[in-house]
This record gives sequence, C-alpha cells and structure tokens, in this order.
Amino acid sequence: MKRHTIALGGAGLMLGVSLLAIPAQELTAELPEPPEFSAQSEPIFVSVSDILEYKALPEYHEPDWVTSKYVEAGTLPPVAERLPKEPMVYKTANMPDGIGVYGDTMRHVIGGRPEGWNYIGGQSQGWGGIDIGMSECLTRTGPLFTVKADELEPLPNLAKSWEWSEDGHVLTMKLIEGAKWSDGDPFDADDVMFYWNDNIMDTNVSPLNGGTPETFGVGTTLEALDPYTIKWTFKEVRPTQYLYAMAYGTFCPGPSHILKPQHPKYNADNTYEEYKNAFPPEYMNIPVMGAWVPVEYRPDDIIVLRRNAYYWKVDEAGNQLPYLNEMHYRLSTWADRDVQAVAGSGDFSNLEQAESFIEALKRSAEDSAPARLQFGARTIGYTIRMNFSANGWGEPDERAQAVRELNRNLDFRKAITIGLDRQRLGDSLVRGPFTAIYPGGLYAGTTYYDKASTVYYQYNVDAANGLLDGIGLVDTDGNGVRNFPAGTAGGGDVEITLLANTDYGTDTNLAEGVIQQMEPLGIRVIANFQQGTARDDMAQAGQFDWSVERQGSEVVSVVQGTSALAPTGPRTHPFHRAGTDGTLDLLPFEQELVDTVNAFIATSDNAERVELMKKYQRTFTENVYSVGLTQYPGALIINKRFANIPAGAPIFMFNWAEDNIIRERVFVPADAQGDFELHPETLPGAPGSAGPM
Ligand code: GLA
Repeated sequence: MKRHTIALGGAGLMLGVSLLAIPAQELTAELPEPPEFSAQSEPIFVSVSDILEYKALPEYHEPDWVTSKYVEAGTLPPVAERLPKEPMVYKTANMPDGIGVYGDTMRHVIGGRPEGWNYIGGQSQGWGGIDIGMSECLTRTGPLFTVKADELEPLPNLAKSWEWSEDGHVLTMKLIEGAKWSDGDPFDADDVMFYWNDNIMDTNVSPLNGGTPETFGVGTTLEALDPYTIKWTFKEVRPTQYLYAMAYGTFCPGPSHILKPQHPKYNADNTYEEYKNAFPPEYMNIPVMGAWVPVEYRPDDIIVLRRNAYYWKVDEAGNQLPYLNEMHYRLSTWADRDVQAVAGSGDFSNLEQAESFIEALKRSAEDSAPARLQFGARTIGYTIRMNFSANGWGEPDERAQAVRELNRNLDFRKAITIGLDRQRLGDSLVRGPFTAIYPGGLYAGTTYYDKASTVYYQYNVDAANGLLDGIGLVDTDGNGVRNFPAGTAGGGDVEITLLANTDYGTDTNLAEGVIQQMEPLGIRVIANFQQGTARDDMAQAGQFDWSVERQGSEVVSVVQGTSALAPTGPRTHPFHRAGTDGTLDLLPFEQELVDTVNAFIATSDNAERVELMKKYQRTFTENVYSVGLTQYPGALIINKRFANIPAGAPIFMFNWAEDNIIRERVFVPADAQGDFELHPETLPGAPGSAGPM
C-alpha cells in the first residue's frame, strides 16, 4: 500500500488522525443531474372504477372448444357455474384495443429455474412472471401506474371491497364469493387463514417474497368472520399502507386444500423443509387462482401453462378471461430473453440489463422489427448491501464478524462509497444517456425523491484511503492489502466477500467493477458469485458480507414494500435481520430510519409523508446505509401482434410489467395469431396428474 497522502482541493496533505477532522461537507458534492432521458410513452391516467367492477352479467362465454370438448362431454360444469356470483369485469372503455378474441400464446423466456410450486412455502418458480401469472392476491398494484395520483390506492382483487371502522383500527374485507381454484375447489377464507396462520405467523415458513407478520404491522391480527369476510385489526389508525402489502408478493394465498395436508402442523410426518419441497417442478397442475396453470415441465427447456377454466375474471361481453390460451416460459438466460424478444422468437422482455441496450435499440428501430420497444423511467438500480448484523444473523465466523463491525462503522462506509467511481461503473455497462450516478436511497425521478435531502459523497480515492487509515486499518505486512488491527480476526488481511447473482450479467459486471475499484483502497473483495436460487438463499439466511443487488420496488414507489425500507421487524429488511437471539442490534441512525418509516406507514397525510421521506432520504444517504451504484431506465419489449398493451407501461413500477400490462386482458387479433400452442384445445388436468386433460 503506497497511498499515504491525500489530495484535497489540490493540496497534498500528510495523513493521519487529522483526516478525521475534515468536515463532512468536503467529502460531499452537488449530485450531478442525471442525463436527460424521457420516457417514450405516457400512461393514460384513470380512476380505479374506470378499470374494473364486480358484477353478474346476463350471459357468459368461453372458447368454443371448451364448451364442445369439456362441458358437453360432462367433464366440466358450464361456464356460468364455474364463475363466482359476481366475477371481476374489465371495462371495455379502459381496454386499449377493446374486447379481445381467444387464442395464441405468449412466449416468455426466463433465466431462472423452478424450485417447485410451493410459492407461499418459499419456493421460486423461476421468476419472469410465471409466479405473477399463477398467483392472485387480496389486492393488486401492477396497473397502478395508470391510476390518477390523487386516487392512488391498490386495486381490489381477491378482496373485492373493504371498509374501515370508524376508529380506523379495523378493516373488514369482502372476498369474491363463489370463485374456485383451477381444480374446481372453492376459494374462501380458509385459504386466506391458512396463508396467514400457518405461513405468515408461523415463522418456520418463509414465503417467497418475504411476507412476515411485521409486513402488516406489529401486533396486527386477522380473522375470518364467515367464508367470504375477513377482519384485520391494526394497532395503527387507518394504516391504508398495508393495502399495498396485501398485493403481490406478500398476500397471495395458496391452495389450502392441497398445501395444508403437507404442513407440519397438520402432518406429523413432515418437517418444514419437506413441506416447502412437497411440490417439486415435476408436479403438474398445481391449483391456482391465476389465469394459467402449469401442465408441462421439461428441465432446462420449457414450462407450459394452459388457461384456467375456472378463472374468475371476464370482459363486459361476458367472455371468460384470459384471452390467451397458453403461456410459455423457455428456460434459458435473461440475456437471451432480450435477444429472442427483439428477434421475434420470444414475445416479451423487460429490457433491464444495460449491456443489451444498444443492440436491442438498433434492431428494434427497423420497420420490419417484430417487436416494439419502449423505454420508461429510471427504475432499475443497483446497490452494495452490507450486512449490518453484529449479533449473529447468518452465523459469521471471526473474519466475517470483523467485517460486520466495519460495515457498522460510518467512516468505513464513507470510505467505500467515495472509493467508487460511479460514472465509470455505469459507463462500463452502457454508454449514452442511460445510467445515472446513484448515491443510494430513493431513486431520482420518483415521487418521494428530494434532491436537496440527498447527501452525495463524491469519488475521492485519496480521502477514502485517509478514512481507512483513520479507523486503524493499516497494511501491516506490506502485501498491498490492509490488515485488521492486531487482536481482530488474527490481524489478517481485510478480505470481504461479495455476493452476486450469476443469472444476470449486470450483477456480476457491477460486482467485478466494485472488486477492481476496491483494490486501490487496499480492500480485497472476493467474488462469491452464485446462481439465482442459491444466491437468494444465502441472502435470506444472512450469509454474506456484502452483496450487489438490483433493488426492490420500495425505493421506486415507497408505498410498496414499505416495511422493507428499514428494519421495522426482525425479518423485514434485506440486510439487517435479527441475530440468533431474535433481537435486532440497530444502530441509532437505523432506529431513526425505523421510526421514520413507521411514521410514514401510520399517516396518510401526504404533506407529512413527503416530509418524512425527505428525512428518510437524508438519514439514509448521510449514513451511507447502502452504497448506491447506478440507476437506469428499462424498456418493455413486446411482440407487435399483441393487443391491449397499455400505453406507458413501465417495466418496474408498481410491479414488474408482467403484472402491469394485465396479461389476462391481452389478446392477439385473429389475423395475427401464431401457431404456437403446444397443447391446443386442452385444459389443465387434476392436481398432480401428468399433464393437461
Ligand atoms: C425477474 C426478471 C424481471 C421480471 C421479474 C418478474 O426478476 O429479471 O425482469 O421478469 O423476474 O418476477
């Protein structure tokens, strides 16, 4: 390690404790404005009631072959009997291309692999919209990008209406009445209560998208009043915020009639691990409330889903949805999703890996291009998350424990953040007006972002080295890597592992950039690159020092995933969870973040919320709670043959585009339909049976 001087304001300074006296403002700078980049299409803003309603219609329809092959043959009840008393009805006036026709397939390509079908038990289905299409949740947020800002509230879904008590502590929800799972079993409060009691409240279970009791507020209770009425009781007054937590992915009940017999509480022979794994990918026809049911799985090749004959949504002419008969999920890579969507051999992509932008833009600009590509706002962002638990989460060894202590040291975090050249990191992914310097916290350009409350520590390697010297990390053995002080982790080299997801080129590219840029600081960062599900498991279990990650929707919309903005509960936060004794060892500034987030949840006064988020942003960025890297826009790529794709659909706000575009309403006009169905004129079979019937 050669660097022992720092340059500040052009003057060389001898280094030592004196550096600690450098006032913070000298490390900070005016955050450069992100390069001008406007979204390529704007949503049409409407009221929730313009989109849908629940009502009985005089008649219902379904594809002809369903009637002739199944209903007339006596294997399926008539469509009117399969629908709830009052189905959800999508209004024609809100459909971009109006009422659709049946047929065709949406060919997705995904980079993940299915662990199995027990979504509420914690298994991933491979992402890319497969779980989104199978799950239905109490409320829905995906389409909210098109709802007027002053009327913003989650859409009803499985919960068709709700009412607050006068004192604001009780929320009573009416569930859709008479709807059925895709195997014909009734959906009712039993499914909701099984999810709540045995998957949320039972902390031996970790539902896939991170639902925990605190996601719905400390001390919140839920009970069933009758098969179609549920009652929430909150400690807070009118916490409308939790309506967002009742959407994807934290309140999407599973089929209790199938899952319950495998749950350890009801099955003495099963462990929790066995419950989680009871429905491996080969298990077909798992009952869903969503529009499509998995009927075929070929490892590393494809998952095929067919229309759910019991789906509970219709159009105004009474046509049972979905319009699309089949869904494909090619099991490939995320980068291939972009390539195939642009080439027309796939139908859909969230163009989110910046490395693919230029090629995708070039190819889709041609008139003959099979797909349209539209960029939205900068809602994709990456950060380094440092593990903040010093009391045992993830059971660190001595070295890892020493890293945790560093992670909790503000000077250390400042050193790391100013040691990074974000401009270069962004440019290494893609050149052009796409990436913006991201100091961490809420994303620039989103509703609650406030630039004046954002502290930006500027790139300054010399000052970074000064800070590291100042906290006693010195290269005692002259090998170019700083050492822990004698007595800490054997005085060994400061080695930090960096977890990243190999399913995404962007994740590992950024991680490699970080590793390189840490070298001049004398910090040895070691790649711990893992395939998606293994990475997720390690992150969930707290087995990481640092991790490079694409962030969730909480930093985009704030109203979603709100409880993940700070460690509001023992298991709500991505990088600080309770240690082995069940407690959280929060630093004072973390406690401030928790209080701010809880105050945000407890009020619906917008002026107050704006102020609270300013405070959140300041506390977060001043303390470098996570080390922001880069922020950029994504583009939605959809094959031109699809109709009813709403204008201005962002790829990530308020959910992924697979939810935002309301796929059950999407159709292909008859003259444009492709011949892609692998199981034409079939319906899902009985749960666990080999394929479609
Ligand atoms: C993955 C993909 C996203 C999106 C989501 C949907 O995370 O990277 O683009 O498709 O799955 O869950």
